[in-house]
Amino acid sequence: MTSNELRQKYLDFFKSKGHKEIPSASLVPENDPTTLFTSSGMQQLIPYLKGQAHPEGKRLTDSQPCFRSQDIEEVGDNRHTTFFEMLGNWSLGDYFKKDQLTWFWEFLTQELKLDPDKLYVSYFEGDDQIPEDTETKNIWQELGIPENHIYAYGTKKNWWSRSGTPEEMPAGEIGGPDSEVFYEFTQIEHDPKYGEKCHPNCECGRFLEIGNSVFIQYEKQENGTFKELPQKNVDFGGGLERITAVSVNEPDIFKIDLFWPIIGKIEELSKKNYSDPNEQNPMRIIADHIKAAFFLIESGVQPSNKLQGYILRRLLRRVMVKLNLYTKDQRPFLGELIDAVAEIYRATSYFPEQGEELVKQVVWEELAKFERALAQGLKEIEKIENITGKLAFDLFQTYGFPLELTEELAKEKGLEIDREEFRQEFEKHKELSRTASAGMFKGGLGEQSEVTTKYHTATHLLHAALRKVLGEHVQQKGSNITAERLRFDFSQPEKVSEEQLKEVENLVNEQIQKDLPVTSEVMDKEDALKSGALGFFTEKYGDKVTVYTIGDFSKEICGGPHVNNTKELGNFKIIKEESAGAGVRRIYAALS
Ligand code: SER
Repeated sequence: MTSNELRQKYLDFFKSKGHKEIPSASLVPENDPTTLFTSSGMQQLIPYLKGQAHPEGKRLTDSQPCFRSQDIEEVGDNRHTTFFEMLGNWSLGDYFKKDQLTWFWEFLTQELKLDPDKLYVSYFEGDDQIPEDTETKNIWQELGIPENHIYAYGTKKNWWSRSGTPEEMPAGEIGGPDSEVFYEFTQIEHDPKYGEKCHPNCECGRFLEIGNSVFIQYEKQENGTFKELPQKNVDFGGGLERITAVSVNEPDIFKIDLFWPIIGKIEELSKKNYSDPNEQNPMRIIADHIKAAFFLIESGVQPSNKLQGYILRRLLRRVMVKLNLYTKDQRPFLGELIDAVAEIYRATSYFPEQGEELVKQVVWEELAKFERALAQGLKEIEKIENITGKLAFDLFQTYGFPLELTEELAKEKGLEIDREEFRQEFEKHKELSRTASAGMFKGGLGEQSEVTTKYHTATHLLHAALRKVLGEHVQQKGSNITAERLRFDFSQPEKVSEEQLKEVENLVNEQIQKDLPVTSEVMDKEDALKSGALGFFTEKYGDKVTVYTIGDFSKEICGGPHVNNTKELGNFKIIKEESAGAGVRRIYAALS
């Protein structure tokens, strides 16, 4: 079965169980300042898991492209990737553990015809706050899974929230106990390096996790305890690439159809063989990173030294350093890899409109910058007599030189690098970036989301005000919200004058002062558009949409959430107006 067929089979299966298919979210979340990337299918559903009504109902399914930057260092083995597609199904306060586990089991054993003897399951053993999940254990037993295929684990393995264990969760975050299914590759011998006995969560590669049913029923409170959510939810996620791999009993996910054409291209152009164990690691890194970079660029990310842009830069530079070992003229090589990625995904529903040309443009610019950095880095190495672990780390940091490259260059000078010193520097740096990303959660999610909700409503007012002042040609092109400000891109051929900006600002403030109620209504998409509701991302909507109305000033299709009354917004101020490309202007504004 191809992965395209498998994806469809999964969606059809859950549709036959009463689920509605929803469109996937962008890889870079627009209105969620707490995270850089969409890293699981549940992310776009957080307000609905917390109790808001979803326009498509209580049973949803989709396939969500995801990016996990924390896995960058893991890429290179047979199963880790930064970019992957997550098959998902959700119950928003509808069915619970029994149906979820039964259906997933049915999907694996009857639809995919996996051998039940190769499947193992896990459940939550409990901790001092949350009891052991015996309900899940009983359900697995009733489904006929033998005792020696059922494992209990603690919070590190069988508790799921976006931040990890219950202790790691900030106030306002939701999560719960989970149950995973694993596939056993009997052709792989356990490696005692990973412990005496093998088990589903062992890292030796014999077992592969292929699906996770999370029972999201808790929200963490300010005082550190857990509150039951108003509804019991199921959040299931399973990696399409991994499930495809086990469906053909293939332990190496780079050999499935979503990767193999890229690896094939690398083999062809480098004239090296993937079957050579020394080539596998670089080829896997190149294949994963170029694919991830492709989708990040399509989601609007540009290489930079900040946030998403920095991650993209790291991916691209790592690819370029690895490619440097194969060729000194990278552009044609990279061009063919980008084409290979586009070919694989062209038929999917989320293949970007812009296609591969945009990606190439961004990659060529970064390549030119990197080639300059590479030349400088090499000069740096030339000057130095002794390459210490610290210097190797600096080269890594400044020029994006991975240790292996510096080692190769050092070897040419007959030098050896102190790997332990490099590792220590690396750990120090990791700690720093962990602290930096933890900083993004400062204030707790509860507080963050209150502020972003206000900005969300202010964005609607701004949109409507711009159309009233400048004309109906104004259409939203994009938006982004942080806890400090909103950013709004819209179609408009020329600069907006000082007077016009003032007029827009006043108009928004007048609406705020009018104490206008904000109401919502679920409608068929066609009816919503006919009724005059604004909505310029029609391909992203499902058949049913929520329309938010603010007095008689604004009416717009949106997922929410919003404040209940405009008086909650305070004072609105436009900070800056600038160009955001041909025919597109950008406004920054803040509330105080
Ligand atoms: N949110 C869970 C995960 O990412 C299941 O979808 O594993």
